[in-house]
Amino acid sequence: MDLTKLTAVQRRLIKKNYKICVVGAGHVGLVSAACFSELGYRVICVDNDKKKIKSLKEKTLPFYEPGLDSIVIKNINRGNLVFTSALPQSVKKSDVIFIVVGTPPLPDGSADLTSIENVARVIAKNLNSYKLIVEKSTVPVQTGSKVKETICRYRKNNTEFDIASNPEFLREGKAIYDFFHPDRIVIGVEYERAEKILKSLYSSIKAPIVVTDINTSELIKHASNSFLATKISFINAVAHICDLAGANVKKVALGMGLDKRIGKDFLDAGLGYGGFCFPKDLEAFIYISKKLGYIFGLIQEVKSINDQQKKYFVEKIKEHLWVLKNKKIAILGLSFKPDTDDMRFAPSIDIVNLLVNEGAHLKLYDPQANNAAKKILRNKKITFAKNAYDAVRNCDCICVLTEWEEFKKLDFSKIKKIMHYPLLADGRNMFDKKQIEVLGFKYIGIGT
Ligand code: UGA
Repeated sequence: MDLTKLTAVQRRLIKKNYKICVVGAGHVGLVSAACFSELGYRVICVDNDKKKIKSLKEKTLPFYEPGLDSIVIKNINRGNLVFTSALPQSVKKSDVIFIVVGTPPLPDGSADLTSIENVARVIAKNLNSYKLIVEKSTVPVQTGSKVKETICRYRKNNTEFDIASNPEFLREGKAIYDFFHPDRIVIGVEYERAEKILKSLYSSIKAPIVVTDINTSELIKHASNSFLATKISFINAVAHICDLAGANVKKVALGMGLDKRIGKDFLDAGLGYGGFCFPKDLEAFIYISKKLGYIFGLIQEVKSINDQQKKYFVEKIKEHLWVLKNKKIAILGLSFKPDTDDMRFAPSIDIVNLLVNEGAHLKLYDPQANNAAKKILRNKKITFAKNAYDAVRNCDCICVLTEWEEFKKLDFSKIKKIMHYPLLADGRNMFDKKQIEVLGFKYIGIGT
């Protein structure tokens, strides 16, 4: 590599002496900041939520993510990771700036890019030396060029900078593992110098690197999430047919998934996808495709199958219990998936509301998300339980909405004795139907 053609800052960067700024201490931002600091880089993590920054400085994390607390604490202690709300100063001190702020959905489905634009303006006004500005937030295609335009518009002098796209593919609950063991690293750049810096930044991580232009990189992220959601809706649609035909969707998924071209992941039928990524990313992908001139009917259908899935589950319970008014129902699992306390777009929200509207009385329990759920699910028909046994006492039906490992270990013989009517509605197909029925339960699954 010819280092002579590079500026002093770029040479320093390629020698891995990075000063990284991560803007946004949300799930992806905080995990990225912590993991970069774990790799040995000096990282400033910035968030405009002063309360969040104060607790992070006190080593209290804003959400639950297995393993994250120890990495954060270790790197605060060794001086590699600092938290602040002062974006201008952090920009000035940094060489590589990752933008990882939220891109929440607007009512029309498009992504709200206000925070991205704000950050781009602050970067522009504090551009005191060459900086590589990397979008890591999930953004619609062509956002990178808008960020570039914004920085050019607001910068005070001609200080050089590069824009890159480096989408993140980590999953909540497995975020640390995913950061260090990604299936691939995607880098979207305009110039080779940005590619070199990003490649060197990730040099200690073993993964194939896909280098492309910024638009393509942005599209890879939306297309990946939409494709994964398509697999989920596909198998949920097949689950309906299994119910109608008396077949077993778990075996259909197994038989399909062993074909390497299909793959076994993301073929678990259930209540459909939730969380802060898939629902909003699909909406945004549908929106941007339409804006560009293409109606993405396939993704619209994926979304509509996902919406129906929750109603389908409640209908199945109704078929068994006939009238839901004044029935006592235990809800086990509230977070959108296990190993997280994240309630955003969790299927449990719709299901709880549908059951409450039918007049049922609900007792809710989640191993991690009770507190988060209490802020969202408020109704006089809803109470929260301290544990699963407390939730199921005297109920007419147990609904399993999240497949927490803890629920697998429950003593169902004991549960049967303390329930009023032994009905198990397993929204995640996590139990073996025959084993549950042998214990004297009625079992409702999805396509099983
Ligand atoms: C998802 C992607 O998997 C990540 O690669 C991506 O980085 C992330 O979105 C993002 O864009 O930030 P995440 O939302 O953490 O990650 O959750 P997943 O593990 O993908 O699960 C998404 C939803 O699909 C959950 O509600 C889960 O219960 C559901 N799901 C998943 C199914 O219903 N069936 C399956 O077979 C798999």
